[in-house]
Amino acid sequence: MKTAKLSRTQMAYVDQGEGVPVLLVHGFPLDHSMWDAQVKALSAQARVIAPDLRGCGQTPLAPGDGERGISMEDYANDLAELLDAIDVREPIVLVGFSMGGYVAWQFVRQHGHRIRALVQCDTRTKADTEEARAGRIKMAENVADWGSGRVAEMLGPTLVHPATFEERPDVVKAVRAMVERTPPAGIAAAQRGMAARPDVTDILPHVTVPTMVLVGEADAISSPAEMQEIADAIPGAEYFVIPSAGHMISMENPDAVNAALIRFVGAATTHYDRLATDT
Ligand code: MLT
Repeated sequence: MKTAKLSRTQMAYVDQGEGVPVLLVHGFPLDHSMWDAQVKALSAQARVIAPDLRGCGQTPLAPGDGERGISMEDYANDLAELLDAIDVREPIVLVGFSMGGYVAWQFVRQHGHRIRALVQCDTRTKADTEEARAGRIKMAENVADWGSGRVAEMLGPTLVHPATFEERPDVVKAVRAMVERTPPAGIAAAQRGMAARPDVTDILPHVTVPTMVLVGEADAISSPAEMQEIADAIPGAEYFVIPSAGHMISMENPDAVNAALIRFVGAATTHYDRLATDT
């Protein structure tokens, strides 16, 4: 992986291929490797950038992040700094997954001019319920004692389709390994940040870039019904349900996700170039 010096961390990232920049933002408590199949497939037609967010994978936390938490805005600002650091000036296709989607909504809010098209996968716009928030804080307070292995055990079955869990040990093992690699302080920082995240449903009618919404047919975390509501609220958004997948669509059904991304990135590039020529 490459690294870039940002104001609060040294961000590790994959940067592969040439063409329209596509930024892939992973979920919690995962890292860039959840996108391995997409990096491989998309980098034939685009410049694919897949970072590890602060406290995940190979990107270190800043001092105090674990206790303070990292807000979704902060993660989004890190991404904008990364784009500056690696000299990406043209608008990107932004792809967010789950927590990466929460970060993407904040990127839309604060750095919207840098986006040419948006893909939101298995994510939400609503803030947490009190119960969900309490669960996150409990994990943040205890994860140093529990260790990341216990978190992997707790989350494992909710992250994938029941059939994946039973029949595809390779996928389950890869997801589990990612969670186990995430340091407890990184888990605590993200949980505190997600617990404090605002409801962003009000921005959906104001998303003006071409948007595609993807969700696994058996996603137990961000349901197809909730994702359909998000797509319905964004003008002109496309909505696709990925078969044979739970939450982890990029790993459970990479062929379907790759096909959707390749078509969408191609169309969004043409659309954007046409607009740029027209004005
Ligand atoms: C994720 O996959 O990023 C998480 O499930 C998001 C969350 O905990 O809300």
